[in-house]
Amino acid sequence: MFENLIINNATNHRVSKSFNRADNDKKVYIETYGCQMNFSDTEIILSVMSKFGYNEVMDINDADVVFLNTCSIRENAENRIYSRLRHLNKFKKLNPNKIIGILGCMAERLKKDLIENEKIVDIIVGPDEYRKIPLMIENIIETGEKGIAVKLSKVETYDDIVPIRKEGITAWISVMRGCDKFCTFCVVPFTRGRERSRKIESIIDEAKHLFDEKIKEITLLGQNVNSFNDNGRDFADLLKLVATAVPQMRIRYMTSHPYDCSRKLLNTMAEHDNICKYLHLPVQSGSERILKLMNRLYTIEQYMDVLDYARKIMPGIGLSTDIIAGFPSETQDDHQMTLDLIKNVGYDGAYMFAYSPRENTKAYRLDDNIPSEIKQKRLEEIIELQREISSFKNKKMNGKTLKILIESVSKKSPDFFLGRTDCNKSVILPKSNLQTGDIVLAKILKSNSATLFAQERE
Ligand code: SAH
Ligand code: SF4
Ligand code: F3S
Repeated sequence: MFENLIINNATNHRVSKSFNRADNDKKVYIETYGCQMNFSDTEIILSVMSKFGYNEVMDINDADVVFLNTCSIRENAENRIYSRLRHLNKFKKLNPNKIIGILGCMAERLKKDLIENEKIVDIIVGPDEYRKIPLMIENIIETGEKGIAVKLSKVETYDDIVPIRKEGITAWISVMRGCDKFCTFCVVPFTRGRERSRKIESIIDEAKHLFDEKIKEITLLGQNVNSFNDNGRDFADLLKLVATAVPQMRIRYMTSHPYDCSRKLLNTMAEHDNICKYLHLPVQSGSERILKLMNRLYTIEQYMDVLDYARKIMPGIGLSTDIIAGFPSETQDDHQMTLDLIKNVGYDGAYMFAYSPRENTKAYRLDDNIPSEIKQKRLEEIIELQREISSFKNKKMNGKTLKILIESVSKKSPDFFLGRTDCNKSVILPKSNLQTGDIVLAKILKSNSATLFAQERE
């Protein structure tokens, strides 16, 4: 059954059979790191586990099985997991029967290394093998043998698995998996394998089901949704069909790659009121030379054309991006071009990172020749510039009346709600008689670079 299960006898240890509880009273604790795809996968993992009698617990002390669903995107993401594993040692010592599993992208990338060098790890499972987890657990309980399942699949989409979602009024729907773009800095094509799409009909069924369950907003997820392809039907087709099938539902998506962010997709967004006017379109760098080295497949002119068109047909659209500072050979001029581009576009927000070399990627073969202090300095300049722009753009919202979906109680004060505008800005507003899930008109009173503060309109 485990065609790629590797048993490592050297680090073998036996987990007592007495661990077995009543079939429906087993407990799993899971920590999730990385992107939304991983969070969405955690919901799939919980669903797979529940069929075998596992319920999720929030306290690690109560758990029979502890999972870390991991991310490999940058070195510090992996370092966090290593330090978390050191911490988990404590729990394993207290209870050697606790099973510890590494799931997700690091499992895929570090496989044997993790099981050989991190003695407390019992199972390692990559993103396409989650169906095997319960049997792997059974196997370790029966035989004490550790297991690895990290084969990547060309077809696995978990289409038939109904994710177990946390309570709330928003939900993610994974519509495709993997990535074939091979940007030279990125591990995702190696950790998640080839692109594959779900069937449109099953996505629509899921959206309708979520609507019946009182979910108010869904986000369609993929590493590169523009490559969605269900027998010739593209992402714009999917978006249109979903928007029409659940007209009362707010719909978002991410992430779009600028290379194939088509007019058809932007027109579809513009045509449907319930598709949020927000576009996350990672540019990575403002320098053509660096973009070529990154294999990003677009020029700055083509990128700007997409944004110009989006703004023309959807005035007020929220725009955000990802930026990498200090890619190999990046000069001060290249860096300046990135700052200029950020200023020119005037993004509402950005996710900004220092370049981190990743094994197996093409860029790994380039000399990582930007000293870390310079990477850091450039990153800080980018962050500071974006902070100023975000503050400025948010200030322009003052006095406006916007439609806000109330999502949850504010983390900072129980008397306030956190909501979100159509264009993806976070808004804090007094609770008064509101409830989560309400869509209200509220007047923006003030703002900072990250948040708007509003009052519901009478
Ligand atoms: N699929 C998405 C992005 C996935 S990774 C897309 O193509 O837009 C999220 C972001 O992490 C990337 O956009 C990039 O900005 C950043 N990133 C990826 N690899 C990185 C690396 N090796 N070093 C630093 N940042 C990286
Ligand atoms: Fe990585 Fe590029 Fe794929 Fe995004 S599009 S996941 S950055 S390879
Ligand atoms: Fe990280 Fe894997 Fe997502 S590397 S960013 S968790 S696809």
